[in-house]
Amino acid sequence: MNFKSTFSEILSEHLHTLTREQIMSIIEVPKNQTHGDLAFPCFTLAKELRKSPTLIAQELSEKITGGLIEKAEAVGPYVNVFFSKAEASKDILNAVIKNQDSYGNSTNGTGKNIVLDFSSPNIAKPFSMGHLRSTVIGNALANIAEKCGYNTIRVNHLGDWGTQFGKLITAYKKWGDADKVAQSPIEELLKLYVHFHEEVESDPQLEVEARQWFKALEEGNEEATELWKWFREESLKEFQRIYDLLGIEFNSFNGEAFYNDKMEKVIEKLEAHHLLEESEGAYVVRLDENNLPPCLIKKSDGASLYATRDLAAAYYRYENYQFDKSLYIVGQEQGVHFQQVKGVLKKLGSDWSDQMIHVPFGLYMKNGKKMSTRKGRVILLEDVLKEAMELAQKNIEAKNPNLENKESIAHAVGVGAIIFHDLKNDRTNNIEFSLEDMLTFEGETGPYLQYTNARAHSILRKAEGSVADDLKDGLSDLYSWEVVKLVNEFEAKISKSFETLSPSILAKYLIDLAQTFNKYYGQVRILEQTDDFQAKISLLKAVTLVLTEGMKMLGMKVPEQM
Ligand code: ARG
Repeated sequence: MNFKSTFSEILSEHLHTLTREQIMSIIEVPKNQTHGDLAFPCFTLAKELRKSPTLIAQELSEKITGGLIEKAEAVGPYVNVFFSKAEASKDILNAVIKNQDSYGNSTNGTGKNIVLDFSSPNIAKPFSMGHLRSTVIGNALANIAEKCGYNTIRVNHLGDWGTQFGKLITAYKKWGDADKVAQSPIEELLKLYVHFHEEVESDPQLEVEARQWFKALEEGNEEATELWKWFREESLKEFQRIYDLLGIEFNSFNGEAFYNDKMEKVIEKLEAHHLLEESEGAYVVRLDENNLPPCLIKKSDGASLYATRDLAAAYYRYENYQFDKSLYIVGQEQGVHFQQVKGVLKKLGSDWSDQMIHVPFGLYMKNGKKMSTRKGRVILLEDVLKEAMELAQKNIEAKNPNLENKESIAHAVGVGAIIFHDLKNDRTNNIEFSLEDMLTFEGETGPYLQYTNARAHSILRKAEGSVADDLKDGLSDLYSWEVVKLVNEFEAKISKSFETLSPSILAKYLIDLAQTFNKYYGQVRILEQTDDFQAKISLLKAVTLVLTEGMKMLGMKVPEQM
């Protein structure tokens, strides 16, 4: 139900100088809800009509009646309106119960494809906290897009190619141990990589060797290819364990290497457009007019580059997925890179590059310092997730020792806590990482949401079988009204989250709903057989449906008991 448009429709019958859109944009939500559900300030009209706004408000308030509006009153220059709680809540709750988990769905994206490039870790390197952010944000955005009707293509653009493989092969051949790599591939490969960087300081020849190995790899040399394949497979197995813990799936793992045979075409295109320029032996596309540094396309030794692979990937995705939008959920330090890629595509006449959007995000901080994976300060994400699950298990043990399936609930709570903590923060802000804070059952946390929802479920179980599918009367108390109005905003919040590519809007909304519901729960005896019993149960059901669907969109698991 759209309160604003209901109100503006009635207003527009009396205001002929303003359009519906203008009226909509003037309408406000009063800070204090005892002043009404919506307010129309009369200042704009006053200027136009050269009349006192107070007088206009007075006159207007007398004309506004009907439909769902129960009462209009003038307070100074404002017309405040109150909706009929019983009528509106009945309609809203019936709509939720009727639609069940498709409540909140919209059709803006129907028939359109959206590509989301997210997670995209680098082979043979630990899954960093930055990749965690990309994974969690990308997954949430994909779910939100689906709720808006889009068809999603989730792509993991693995960092499985590049000069670092030359270094790795060199290091492995010199100091590597096959058994160790097989046992803990990423840890071992990282050690080799770090060792290479230590040694190269005193032995620059290693750099030359590494470059040769990478060249060999690009040319399909068998030994190099075998080693590369092996590193890739072993790393993927480790990443897959993390994705399983997080419950995240992809439609494609086509990483950088996938574009090896697709780059020549890009280079030909660039040549045909006379865009390639030689610069210090390398080939670049100049982007001076965009105030950007030149985009490196090909190195002096012929080796291809990150940007070239992204150009090839952009064409591939456009041709194969016919995307309406193509999102890149990648840290903000790659902002220039994506501007360059889009700039080059624009120069090639590919105007669809405007549909490519870089979705940047801030860093994880620990005690004010960047949480990093380089040089020993390694934080293994898998350990973080496991620690979260253990802590969650302890908390659950203390709260509800007789709970069944404690382990799987601890998994849902531990992992959910990390996901929620990430998403409730505005995407571009840095986040302070504190497991303790994430895991409390109070405050703005994942466990708080899950717990609120589980409690609502447990009351529902007690009222078993009594959710009406067609409520005759709604609720008219102020506590339930606050909850009903929030439930009613679900679809609008989802759309806003999608338009701004900000899962935090949805996350904050869910907290708001949970808090408001808990306030209601503290005031109203839900299971008491009052006249509005049916409506109370419908409200309970509606809240669980919205919380559940909302948490699922964020990528959390939703236990019905805790
Ligand atoms: N592997 C890259 C990194 O870890 C991220 C890749 C992002 N996607 C892309 N199409 N460039 O920094």
